[in-house]
Amino acid sequence: MEIQKIMVIGAGQMGSGIAQVCASAGFDVILHDIKEEFVNKGYHSIEKQLQRQVEKGRLTPQEKDETLQRITPSVELSNARFIDIAIEAVVEKMDVKTTLFHELDQLAPDHAILATNTSSLPITEIAAATKRPEKVIGMHFMNPVPVMKLVEIIRGLATDDEVFQNIYDLTKKLNKVPVEVNDFPGFVSNRILMPMINEAIYTVYEGVASPEAVDEVMKLGMNHPMGPLTLADFIGLDTCLFIMETLHEGFGDDKYRPCPLLRKYVKAGWLGKKTGRGFYSY
Ligand code: CAA
Ligand code: NAD
Repeated sequence: MEIQKIMVIGAGQMGSGIAQVCASAGFDVILHDIKEEFVNKGYHSIEKQLQRQVEKGRLTPQEKDETLQRITPSVELSNARFIDIAIEAVVEKMDVKTTLFHELDQLAPDHAILATNTSSLPITEIAAATKRPEKVIGMHFMNPVPVMKLVEIIRGLATDDEVFQNIYDLTKKLNKVPVEVNDFPGFVSNRILMPMINEAIYTVYEGVASPEAVDEVMKLGMNHPMGPLTLADFIGLDTCLFIMETLHEGFGDDKYRPCPLLRKYVKAGWLGKKTGRGFYSY
């Protein structure tokens, strides 16, 4: 199947990055969110990123304009009737995703693939909310999307081989590297990354060290580009908590228990960089 029209659902930090990468690769993109202000915020962040590329001499002003022209903002899910694929990047909650996939299934053309950028949730369960589980697949981009090369590709139980191949090829056209992994909680990336972040939060919670000290140890001692607490703020503490809950519930093992301090921060609305406060202030 020839993919040309892509709908990115959720214009937050991941959705806007995915839309930017798709439009830069020449695809027509519908960038959708529930409110105009959210779509506009996502669109402006793409504009800013592209402008930065112009200033660095990597993009001409004309290329920037052409890329932006390929992105159509949307607050009507019925725009899905025009698409070849949807890439969903809404909040990491199963009930929100299944409700959305159920609606999308009724609106999108029969040939359309429904992909999810979920960080941890079972693809098979999301697929079961539709009448086309063979066309549902996980396409897990990393943050920041324009920079990070990896996309984990995850088949649900019923995903067609042809759909898998289409997504594998699409990932390469986006100048990313696809890696196939199986449908288990957190896949590979977050099964390994998130317990490290959770442990870093426990280290602060138990008074072993300050957030600054934890991050310095991991940056200078392990050569990580960002310390785990800076990274947690960057990912979003709500997303970190939802992922830990999925691991905890999915494996039933107490080693995945979310740190109470993480829960406290999320309850306080301290979600990290996106709300201006998390382990650090922004
Ligand atoms: N959006 C787009 N581009 C960005 C960006 C952003 N938010 N932040 C930085 N960049 C770009 C910069 O423009 C710069 O580009 P050029 O080299 O082309 O000029 C490049 O990235 C490097 O940026 P900086 O020099 O400003 O800063 P840096 O060297 O510290 O790199 C970083 C920034 C790439 C984010 C680096 O700190 C890093 O790799 N951090 C770790 C990121 C990571 O682990 N991501 C995975 C998160 S987990 C996940 O995504 C899965 C999940 O489900 C939660
Ligand atoms: P975010 O909070 O920045 O953005 C989520 C967006 O989804 C918001 O703009 C919100 O208005 C919108 N939204 C919520 N419900 C919606 C609906 N029903 N229809 C349309 N839009 C809706 O979150 P994010 O960090 O971009 O994460 C989005 C998804 O990507 C999550 O599943 C997350 O686990 C996954 N993910 C996140 C990261 C990360 O580092 N933050 C990395 C990889 C994957």
